Amino acid sequence: MSLNRVIGAGNAIPWHLPEDFKWFKASTMGNVVVMGRKTFESLGKPLPNRKNLILTRHPQSLIKDHAAIFGQYHEWRGGQYLKRAYQFHFTKMDKDKDQQTDILIFNSLDKLNPEEFPNDIFICGGSQIYEQSLPRCSDLYLTVVKREVAGDAFFPPFEDKFKLIAELRDTPEFKILHYQHHNLAAEQD
Ligand SMILES: NC(=O)c1ccc[n+]([C@@H]2O[C@H](COP(=O)([O-])OP(=O)(O)OC[C@H]3O[C@@H](n4cnc5c(N)ncnc54)[C@H](OP(=O)(O)O)[C@@H]3O)[C@@H](O)[C@H]2O)c1
Repeated sequence: MSLNRVIGAGNAIPWHLPEDFKWFKASTMGNVVVMGRKTFESLGKPLPNRKNLILTRHPQSLIKDHAAIFGQYHEWRGGQYLKRAYQFHFTKMDKDKDQQTDILIFNSLDKLNPEEFPNDIFICGGSQIYEQSLPRCSDLYLTVVKREVAGDAFFPPFEDKFKLIAELRDTPEFKILHYQHHNLAAEQD
């Protein structure tokens, strides 16, 4: 987020920081990334070699509106009615690199069970999803862009629930901070 807590403007990230993007990519590669429908649409495609969990209350519309994206996926396990949540699963194998990109569409955050996933789960935005998910997160990796930016999507308040445990990087343009949830961090001790 920027100094005035902006994370987005016009459904795009209002800065270009390749070093921060490299950090995001290295952290999330091979893991699970969770994002809201608007963030998925702003990316325009799933993040490769990760399990992409997309949240929307209208899964069928998402698939229909983005037929070009979903049509590239040769395996579709179809919509399953799982514990009162719809889950659609698309998967694509990258033949050259022997890696796999998955898209799972959920219509409810409550039905997303972290225990179903062996890897780390990264909540990747946007505002709505950060706000709903932060209370359940053990760790927060926050890039702070060292300037004020105009925008219409903001990072929610977290300071009362998380404590700063490390400054991972400090550059002239941004810093990366590692916070832990007071309660969830204590549970792990
Ligand atoms: N700076 C950063 O690191 C960063 C990262 C990510 C995103 N962003 C920015 O954030 C902005 C987007 O954020 P946003 O808050 O507007 O949208 P968002 O969180 O990406 O997506 C919101 C959508 O998610 C779905 N949703 C929300 N809660 C749900 C729930 N409990 N169950 C099922 N579906 C749910 C709804 O989709 P339906 O309407 O389809 O039902 C809702 O409209 C963009 O500007 C983007 O560029 C910035």
